[in-house]
Amino acid sequence: MTTRIIGTGSYLPKAVVTNDDLAKIMDTSDEWIRTRTGICERHLVTEETTTSMCIEAAKRALENAGISGEEIDLIIVGTVSGDNMTPSTACEVQAAIGAAKAVAFDMNAACAGFIFALNTAHAYFQAGIYKTALILGAETLSKIMDWNDRSTCVLFGDGAGAAVVRADESGLLAFEQGCDGSKAHVLLGKSRGNNNPLVSTDTSLDYVHMDGQEVYKFAVSTVPASVQRVLEKANVSIDEISYFALHQANIRILQSVAKRLKVSEDKFPISLDHCGNLSAASVPVLLDEMNQKGMLKKGGKIVLSGFGAGLTWGTVLLEW
Ligand code: ACO
Repeated sequence: MTTRIIGTGSYLPKAVVTNDDLAKIMDTSDEWIRTRTGICERHLVTEETTTSMCIEAAKRALENAGISGEEIDLIIVGTVSGDNMTPSTACEVQAAIGAAKAVAFDMNAACAGFIFALNTAHAYFQAGIYKTALILGAETLSKIMDWNDRSTCVLFGDGAGAAVVRADESGLLAFEQGCDGSKAHVLLGKSRGNNNPLVSTDTSLDYVHMDGQEVYKFAVSTVPASVQRVLEKANVSIDEISYFALHQANIRILQSVAKRLKVSEDKFPISLDHCGNLSAASVPVLLDEMNQKGMLKKGGKIVLSGFGAGLTWGTVLLEW
């Protein structure tokens, strides 16, 4: 028994903010952002929330799969920017889509969040516990960025992506996931301190800090090796892969991974040009765009890979 994706959906906020728009409010330029990252514009929330974007993406994925919320056994939302400490985003999605029998929880694996959610659903399917799951990656990164730090805030966007997955005879062929907590400091977003008067700690909210060059080195060394290990596990040659749908952090990371794998850049679809970096939402939003464009053919093999804070990474080989 394995796992098949039977429907996808996504939602991007209505407001589009271009690099030139950012240049009006901070010391940056379209030229700097575009040449270093490949990002031209991003969608940022105005009225939307992480939860509302998840609900819309979930409804679209259910419609694409042709099933109702009542058929869902499990909902997992990969996010680092949920709206509440509790309830979880997944519980709010459960109520909104009428998935009364579903177990629902959030998962924090940063930019690998959707891949970890997919692998978790896969493990439940293999254990025979559940049959149908809704997995999401969703972020409102604009609320956790420091808008006084031009080196990070220009990189990220907001959005949500979803997939309906089902236990089936074919689909997911191999996966791996990994973490390196010893390098957590290269991409940090600390939580609020303790307000207990007996333990005075700083209770101000922190924003995301990143050592961009260390993150770059981590990504371009870890991702190609992870892809190769997954292909070896499934005994599939790299030439058989139609597309590598990678986390959209930076065009230079994608180009470097393509070069290291000796694969044409044409096999690396891009959404970061119009979305920016969506962390956990990156891979499912890209996957939905590929699905909408008819790029995913039955029987075609694709690789998904997410990598980011933690540090975390996860790679999946799928037959569509
Ligand atoms: N506009 C204009 N100038 C800027 C901006 C900006 N938005 N941000 C930084 N600069 C300036 C810096 O102040 C610095 O100026 P100085 O030389 O006068 O001091 C100069 O540009 C170079 O700064 P660096 O941080 O060294 O820039 P770098 O060339 O490393 O590019 C980047 C930064 C794009 C983040 C790069 O490190 C990178 O590609 N990192 C990969 C990590 C990444 O993409 N992370 C995304 C999130 S993590 C994830 O999703 C896995």
